[in-house]
Formats: sequence, C-alpha cells, structure tokens
Amino acid sequence: MPLIPEEAIQQVLDRADIVDIVSLYLPLKKAGRSFKALSPFKAEKTPSFVVSPDKQIFHCFSTGKGGNVISFVMLMEKMDFPEAIRFLAKKVGVDIPEERFQDRKQENIQQQLYEVNAVAVEYFSNILLTDKREDVEKVRMYLKERGLSLETVQLFQIGYALEQWDGLIKHAQKKDIGLRLLEKAGLIIPREKQDGYYDRFRNRVIFPIVDARGNCRAFGGRTMEKDNQAKYVNSPETAVYTKGRHLYGFQLAKDSIAQEDFAIIVEGYMDCIIPVQAGVKNVVASLGTALTVEQIRLLRRYSKNVVMLFDSDSAGVAAMIRSLDILVEEEMLVKVASLKEGEDPDSFINRYGADAFKKCIEEAKPLFDYKFDFLAEKYDPSSVEGKARISAEMLQTIQKFPNAVVKAGYLNRLSKVLGIPEYALRQELEKLEPQSGQRSGQNEVSTKTASPQKRTVEHNILKLLLEENSFIAVTRKDVAVEDFQDQKIRSVISKIYDLFDQGKSVNPTGLINCFEDEEIQTMVSGLIAEEEAMIDNKEKMYTDCISRLKKDRQKSYRQTLLEQIRVAESSGNHQQLEMLKMEFNKTVRGL
Ligand code: CTP
Ligand code: MN
Repeated sequence: MPLIPEEAIQQVLDRADIVDIVSLYLPLKKAGRSFKALSPFKAEKTPSFVVSPDKQIFHCFSTGKGGNVISFVMLMEKMDFPEAIRFLAKKVGVDIPEERFQDRKQENIQQQLYEVNAVAVEYFSNILLTDKREDVEKVRMYLKERGLSLETVQLFQIGYALEQWDGLIKHAQKKDIGLRLLEKAGLIIPREKQDGYYDRFRNRVIFPIVDARGNCRAFGGRTMEKDNQAKYVNSPETAVYTKGRHLYGFQLAKDSIAQEDFAIIVEGYMDCIIPVQAGVKNVVASLGTALTVEQIRLLRRYSKNVVMLFDSDSAGVAAMIRSLDILVEEEMLVKVASLKEGEDPDSFINRYGADAFKKCIEEAKPLFDYKFDFLAEKYDPSSVEGKARISAEMLQTIQKFPNAVVKAGYLNRLSKVLGIPEYALRQELEKLEPQSGQRSGQNEVSTKTASPQKRTVEHNILKLLLEENSFIAVTRKDVAVEDFQDQKIRSVISKIYDLFDQGKSVNPTGLINCFEDEEIQTMVSGLIAEEEAMIDNKEKMYTDCISRLKKDRQKSYRQTLLEQIRVAESSGNHQQLEMLKMEFNKTVRGL
C-alpha cells in the first residue's frame, strides 16, 4: 500500500462515486436512500446487493461481500489494491505519478530482473525450438515422448539449457547484460576458486515460473541425465522470487479457476502442463512442497474451492495432509482427489486419458472423509488406541475451522464414525485450543472469537461509532481496545483510536482502506449497510452497550483471578493467595 501516495488514494476516493462506478457493471435501482441490484457474485432472484451513496459503501447480503469502491473494483476486476487504485484513477482523471514512494532502487532491480529473466526465457526457448544440434534434437524427442505438443511447449514457454558452462553467459554478453545482474537473477553462479561465473542450468529442460502478470520470476530445470543427480534444479531466492510464494501455471489458469469456481492443485511442473494440454485448464502446481498461506491467498481471489491432487506416493500424501490444515484455516473449501497407486497426474493422463482424469476430479472426497479414511488405514479404528490416535489427528484439523458451526458439525460426525461421545471429543478439542486455560497474565482477556452475544454488543458499539463520530471521544477515554474480545472488531477499534488520536476523521470508506483483510472490510460494510434502526435512541443504546462491555470486562477479570487463586491454593503460595483474594474482593465490591 505505501506504493501510491496517500493523497492520490484520497483523491480517487473523493472523485470515484461508488454509485457511478457500480453502475458501470450493474443496473442499480433506487430503494429509499440506497440503491439495490442483483448480486454480481451469485445467481439470485431478489436483489440483495446494496449500495449506500451516503456512506460510499456496498454490501452484498447473499454472499456477505462488501466494502468501498476500491474493494468493489478489486472483486469485479480481480485486481489487487494498487491495481484497483490505478484503474479507478484513470477513470476519474487522477494522476498517479509513476515515481513511487518505495525505494526506487529496489523497484529498479525488480524490473531489471524481470527483463533479464525474459531474455533468458527467450534464449532457452529459441534453443529448444530451433537449435539443430543432436542433443537438442534428443530433448525434442524426449518431450514428444512425454506427450507435449508444440503449442503446449510454446504456451508454457518451455526451453532447453545446453550442456555448456557458459551458454547463457555468452548470450547475455552479446546483449550487453552485466554478469552481476545475471547473478542476482540466480541464473549464473560465481566460481569458487577462480574469477568468473558459470551457468546454473546446464543440460536441463527449462520451465519458467511466471506470475499472474506474466513476469518470469524464476526457473525450474529438469535434468536430461539419468544418473542420480538432482532431478530438478530451481532458481534460488532472488529479489523477485521467494520460495513458496508462487504457483506454477497460475497466469494461464486463473481465468479458468474463476470460471469453474475451483482450482486443482498438483505438485509438479508436468502435472500442471499435461492436464492443461488435455483441456483441464484450472490447474496450478505448488512445486513439490506443502502449500503456503501466500499461495492460497493468490488462489482465493479467484475461487474458494480447491481440489488437492498430489502424487499418490508417501511424500505426496504427507505434503497433502500438511497442506489441508492451512487450507482450512484460510477458509478454503477443500476436497482431495487421489490417483491409482504410483501415478501422478501427468502419468495418469498419459495412461488413462483426460476423461478418466476428469472423473477422478469429480470424485474427489471432502476433506473430512479423506483424512479420516487415511487415518483409518494407518490406525485401527476398532481399537481404543486407534480411536484415540485418529481422533487426536482429526481434531487437529477440526480445530482449524474458524466457523464454530462447521466445527460442531465435524465434531458430531467424528463422534458418530468413531462411536465416541461428543463430550469426550470436545474435551480433547479444548485441550488443543491455544488460548484456553491458565495463562499467567493478569487481567488478560481471552482473545478467542467471542460468544455471539458478546459480539452483538461489540458490533453495536462499532456501528454506533461509525454512524456517530461524536461517540468516539468518550469511548476512547473509557474503553480499552482489549475490552473488545472479537479479534476483528478489536483491529477496527484500534484503527479508529489511531485516527482519532491523529485528529483525522473516521469514515467507513477510509476505514475499509486501512485493512487488507477481506473479512474486516466486509464486516464494516455490513454494519453500515444494516438498517439505521436506532435513530432516536442511539444515546441509550450506546450507554447500554458500553456498560455491558464493562461488566463483561469485570466478569472475565474475576474469572482470571479465581483461576489464579485456585493455582495459588494448590501450590500453597500464601502470600500470593492473600493478594489475589484482596483483589478479588475489590472487584466484587465494585459490582
Ligand atoms: N521438485 C524440486 N526439486 C527436486 C525434486 C522435485 O523442485 N529435487 C519439485 C518439482 O517442481 C517437481 C515436483 O517437485 O515437478 C514433483 O517432484 P517429482 O514427483 O519427483 O517429479 P515430477 O514432477 O513427477 O517430474 P517428472 O515427471 O519429470 O519425473
Ligand atoms: Mn511425473
């Protein structure tokens, strides 16, 4: 976000009226002070998409998506924040200087690396497509045998690095590209005992790793030798490449992922390429490791549904099992497909064809069933010991579901399949919850998601603060950020306090901009879009909510004290015990 000057963002927001911008995409109908339309995110018959011109926000009640004009463009155009700002700036005639805030040098090096990489892509690809040497002829044969067509080779910009120490170096010199830059791109390696460099990729098929915008960020090279050296050599981390941040094939797959509303995640280069060639285009590769949060966030803008399809060997299964939990945590809806023993997607399609592959994807098992079946094979589900093991590992995943209802649903299923009472599973689950139980901090309030009732109080306070900025000053004085138990509400309140302290105005649109977290944006827009029901009794509503919040704070402080008293009693720490009791009595008197 620091890339674009704050004033420019403000200017864009001032000029880009949300009603005008949304109208470019949807026919809006006036409804009271707001406008309504059918949701652009979901097929529906009654309009649940609301735009408020007063507050400059939108909210879609059927999908829960919402935000300001920038969030709207991000969703409709699948852009990230800076892209959306630039897009809007053009529409409303705001000049955003190309000169950026960030270290210009850093920006430069990134641009330079993209350019060097592009030269290398072209160099490797030219060799593969046109070089007449016998070894290159062999590579072409090899790729043909693996089933790759010429179009596919070109589509994925596949290339070949000759069996030479300085093929790329010489080529770069002809193009006047410095060796230092090639080294920064990870394409060449300094010699150890003498001056000079040598090519990193030699006698390897080259797979460029391209980002969503088409910039080549790194390379993977598959050996053409049969001996036991590394099958794949990849670029090291560079100023434009961090391992685990990118997905192979993403640029080619992203539209199809949005269209099909799910992504297939595979492990290897060829496992991505072969399905795409066979017409299954929504495939990306994680490149041989468990998934990372960054990779999932790339996907999430296009679809929340994922089918994992890793190799059916033990490494693949292990990577998949590890990936499941973070997919769950990031609120992706996960299914798992499996192939016949010993196959990977590439070999499977070559052997059984694309239709069999599609069928496999259709038959993907929901996460719960997959993990359960996997564990039931590993441990004996009819023995007590087996049940304990299976439930322990299932609970690890169940614990990660952010939604309490979903969590409860899975607990219930686990209890049924294992024949274990739900309360026992719940007890085990509680042991896993990180914040529960005895923390030694003093009046530390649990930071878990608060109960629905508490959340209503907190939501109401936030809504009131947003509707009536005059409440902010008293609240700032009276209520600490920590008094709010809901994490997301807490972040917003804390931001409101910051803005207030800096003497800045607090409005929903500006506030939404401060958060990248989609859920926070949605929460804020949702609060604003709800009816302004309590117009005449805002004062009373406010005092009620605040006193509720304070009572809750007292109550949880007393609970913490009680817990500490119990600990002090059992450890026989009399001095501590006396102090705690005194403190406890004080809070009771204060009631
Ligand atoms: N990989 C890697 N480095 C290695 C081995 C594997 O980066 N030394 C990554 C590659 O992205 C590879 C993926 O892990 O594509 C899966 O590895 P593997 O299953 O061993 O290879 P395949 O993709 O099946 O390669 P091929 O079909 O060409 O043998
Ligand atoms: Mn393979």
